[in-house]
Amino acid sequence: MKFMAENHEAKIKVCKNGPYLVSGRIPLAIQTIYVNSEGYPSEWREGEKYPLQENCALCRCGQSKNKPFCDGTHTKVNFDGTETASRKKFMERAEKTSGPALILNDAEDLCAVARFCDRAGGAWELTEHSDDPNSEKNAIEEACNCPSGRLVICDKKTGKEIEPVFEKSIGLVEDPHAGVSGPIWVRCGIPIESADGVVYELRNRVTLCRCGKSSNKPFCDGSHMP
Ligand code: FES
Repeated sequence: MKFMAENHEAKIKVCKNGPYLVSGRIPLAIQTIYVNSEGYPSEWREGEKYPLQENCALCRCGQSKNKPFCDGTHTKVNFDGTETASRKKFMERAEKTSGPALILNDAEDLCAVARFCDRAGGAWELTEHSDDPNSEKNAIEEACNCPSGRLVICDKKTGKEIEPVFEKSIGLVEDPHAGVSGPIWVRCGIPIESADGVVYELRNRVTLCRCGKSSNKPFCDGSHMP
């Protein structure tokens, strides 16, 4: 997937044992997971939007009193923000589920437990039955709703990724059904630079840890879940 260059250089810098430094007037808003009548996540809804800022620092340790922004608490609590995430390309390490019309690529270590992939039998089973138009539609919907990009679905014939269209933006995930705040949802290929100066693979969707507990920093691994 290709991403357009923009005037304001949108970027996220991971600080060593500190916050995410966000630059480039990136829109920031609450993004809430809504569930259907059976309790399965089925929809994202945008909530409060924060005023646009040229630069801001988002809390990564989970302990700021001024969330989502950093208030310096990370130094008092000796936050260990060591980055351990794989730097291999997603497609090179994702497991494939190949169905008649679709291929589902899955890198489980990126799971943010948003649970959109559980509905209607789950994205894997739906992919396996993707010769049925309804299963195909649901598989695509579920993969595209995955905020972390753990799941990426491709058209089997063309090999092309089927991706949701986003603007460069950051979502603060809220998950009221699970009773937790989720990760930082980074959309549309915003570069994320590690503390040691390496830019992670540019992706349309990724989720960054904001509870401080992930074992796959800087990315979310679902550790915020109860
Ligand atoms: S990263 Fe600074 S207070 Fe959390």
